[in-house]
Amino acid sequence: MNIAELAAKKPWFAWFLFIFTVALVFGVGLFAASIIERRSEAVATGVPIRPLPEFEPRNAVWGEQFPRQFETYLQTLDTTFVSRWGGARHRDMLAQHPEMVVLWAGYAFARDYDQIRGHYYAMKDLHGTLRTNLDQPATCFSCKSTDVPRLMDEYGVEGFYEQSWRDLGPEVANPIGCQDCHDPETMRLTITRPALIEAWERMGRDIERATHQEMRSLVCAQCHVEYYFRGDGNYLVFPWDERGFGAEAAEAFLDDVGHTDWVHSISRAPMLKVQHPDWELFQVGTHAAAGVACADCHMPFRREGGVKFTNHHIQSPLANMAESCMVCHGGSEADLRERVYGNQDRIVELRRRAERVLARLHIEAGAAWDAGATEEEMEPILELIRSAQWRWDFVAASHGAAAHAPVESGRLLGAALDMAGEARSDLARILSRLGVEHPVPMPEWEKEALQAYIGLDMEAQRAQKEAFLQDTLPRWYEAAAHAREGPTDYIPQFPVPEDP
Ligand code: HEC
Ligand code: HEC
Ligand code: HEC
Ligand code: HEC
Repeated sequence: MNIAELAAKKPWFAWFLFIFTVALVFGVGLFAASIIERRSEAVATGVPIRPLPEFEPRNAVWGEQFPRQFETYLQTLDTTFVSRWGGARHRDMLAQHPEMVVLWAGYAFARDYDQIRGHYYAMKDLHGTLRTNLDQPATCFSCKSTDVPRLMDEYGVEGFYEQSWRDLGPEVANPIGCQDCHDPETMRLTITRPALIEAWERMGRDIERATHQEMRSLVCAQCHVEYYFRGDGNYLVFPWDERGFGAEAAEAFLDDVGHTDWVHSISRAPMLKVQHPDWELFQVGTHAAAGVACADCHMPFRREGGVKFTNHHIQSPLANMAESCMVCHGGSEADLRERVYGNQDRIVELRRRAERVLARLHIEAGAAWDAGATEEEMEPILELIRSAQWRWDFVAASHGAAAHAPVESGRLLGAALDMAGEARSDLARILSRLGVEHPVPMPEWEKEALQAYIGLDMEAQRAQKEAFLQDTLPRWYEAAAHAREGPTDYIPQFPVPEDP
């Protein structure tokens, strides 16, 4: 008996079939609608449909559910864009500003210092720089990898910082990514780095109460800020407190705790190194005053087939002014770009003047020591050198300073020049009393010549790096791939493709 015969014989069966079919169609419809709704919810609000593990470091795994954000994130691999002073293309900063070799004599930065590029390269560049020939603390990984929150959970925050980067090297592999800025459950913006939370508390503020617009900058402030490593445990600290976070406040903080990054090998000044205070300087610029956030320019919205999403290709916004700037500004792109370049040209000119004076100052101080100057007479001069170079570096190390806060950048460089000038005239008196020939002979202002002048054996440095990249790093990758089982199991995204 087929269905038609059964329905003809037993009318209740026809009714059953009818109602069953209606229910089935309705059910399938509901199911489909809920999927579509959840999908568009996932796109609109960014809530994952499939739960992500608490410490998933792999960007590609997050990317399965958020393909647009992931694809644009992957574009941070593109190193083709170059603007007049920025962009992702390789620039050897020491070759362009050779005086910096002397400014950092006795410190790792004199070996190697390049213009930054996209987030995807963070681990590769950390491994590749000659600065990591010195044994660095694990703290260095803090702003480089999505593996950091997981390791802090495992070892405790102090336990993480205390280790050397060689100890943890085999466990840190994935470059900056989703896990650094997003809560895996809700995809809301979140702060994963304790140093920022602690610094916020010292300023008497509660980061939990930050507004949504503030969060669109604070996620960047986890890394794009000035910091130092406190004590033997190399605890990561941002030098901010109730006095604030500007150049003077941060300097006062570091003076109070008696911090010195290194003693200059020529002038013997107790030096500080500034690390990219991008967030701090941005706060005193025009755009911050207008309530604009980092993400507004560096992660603008994009529309694609009716879907609006955040462009995760974080780069120089001059590469994409239509989306980054022209949503607020009228006029032509070319005119606006020229305004930025005009600010940058002026700041670069001042910066170079400060570099020239500071480099000569270190060498003249060295000549004074050689001629028998006393600690007592040199001390005030060395203090001035420390303060002047701090102000110069606050601008030089902040990648976007001239674009973000041109007036403040100019003020700091002006102060640096003034302090350096004062130190130089005090020093001139000492030099003439000691009968030192004037002017003090200067080296050739060229990168390699200066590296030799400050006593660096670059040949040996490069050989040491080569050995690390050939022997140690492949073993780290291998270990990283097999480091973990279970929910935090991961495969590192290595090797990073070669530069285009
Ligand atoms: C440096 C911080 C940062 C990183 C890294 C990052 N995001 Fe975002 N993401 C943001 C910001 C800022 C927004 C805008 C959020 C807002 O305004 O609510 C955003 C928004 C989103 C949204 C919400 C929808 C949208 O497009 O606005 C999703 C989904 C998302 N990101 C996924 C990802 C994925 C996947 C990754 C890794 C491939 C990632 N994000 C890496 C900062 C980041
Ligand atoms: C976990 C740390 C971390 C976070 C969070 C972070 N950055 Fe970065 N950022 C870095 C590092 C490190 C580099 C340098 C990478 C390199 O050169 O290898 C970098 C590079 C950059 C660059 C240079 C890219 C280029 O193409 O020249 C820009 C622009 C940038 N970041 C902006 C941002 C913005 C805006 C945010 C917040 C939305 C942010 N970053 C969040 C660590 C971070
Ligand atoms: C009003 C738009 C705007 C905002 C908001 C903004 N920036 Fe920028 N940023 C720029 C411009 C313009 C440059 C210069 C790019 C160049 O020279 O190619 C720049 C440069 C940078 C660079 C160096 C990139 C490079 O390629 O050299 C970094 C890093 C950076 N900004 C981080 C940040 C951070 C962090 C914030 C928030 C605290 C922020 N920016 C807010 C416009 C902005
Ligand atoms: C969210 C809105 C917004 C975005 C996005 C934005 N700006 Fe602005 N910008 C402003 C406001 C508001 C001012 C202050 C009023 C003015 O001078 O027009 C300003 C001022 C400026 C100034 C003059 C002040 C100074 O610092 O020299 C320049 C130059 C500038 N913007 C360039 C840019 C560039 C380049 C971009 C893209 C990378 C950009 N802006 C993106 C809103 C924005």
